[in-house]
Amino acid sequence: MEKLAVYPGSFDPITNGHLDLLERGLKIFDRMVISVAANPGKSSLFSLTERIELIKASIEATEYRNRVEVDSFNGLLVDYVQKIGADAVVRGLRAVSDFEYEFMMALMNRKLNAEVETLFLMTGMRWIYISSRLIKEVVMSGGCVTGLVPEAVEKALIKRLGQGPGSTFR
Ligand code: PNS
Repeated sequence: MEKLAVYPGSFDPITNGHLDLLERGLKIFDRMVISVAANPGKSSLFSLTERIELIKASIEATEYRNRVEVDSFNGLLVDYVQKIGADAVVRGLRAVSDFEYEFMMALMNRKLNAEVETLFLMTGMRWIYISSRLIKEVVMSGGCVTGLVPEAVEKALIKRLGQGPGSTFR
């Protein structure tokens, strides 16, 4: 039987680290649904529609695109997982600092629904320091994020945030 995983997150915006994790997940699962939380409890730079479009643009040229679905969810993650009949939730771990938050979230999800398992995958070393938050901060301050995010995301970030004073974009 086909194995399906949900890769949930804010993806504000998607980074190469997220794509790396998606690819790793596809080595284990037949299909992955990358699902954007509609209301992650924090304000976002990009709207839900924009975040979804950026994910779609980022995977459209990949060979695994046919095994990935882009979706969004409202409310509890565990309810969504059950609704779409997924086998597990996949989350990425970069450094020790991620561990506490991820551990608590996984245990809370287990408390909410013991059927839903969370699987943690390690991000590739080259992406270990990347986060959507840092990417936005760098662009906002005029720094260059080429090679850290998909091209469509870089363009969208520059359009939204500008290149800032003393930009290092070339
Ligand atoms: O990319 P993020 O912001 O770390 O993703 C966090 C996310 C969206 C996966 C998490 O906040 C979530 O699952 N939100 C949905 C609401 C929910 O189910 N909360 C209980 C989990 S502790």
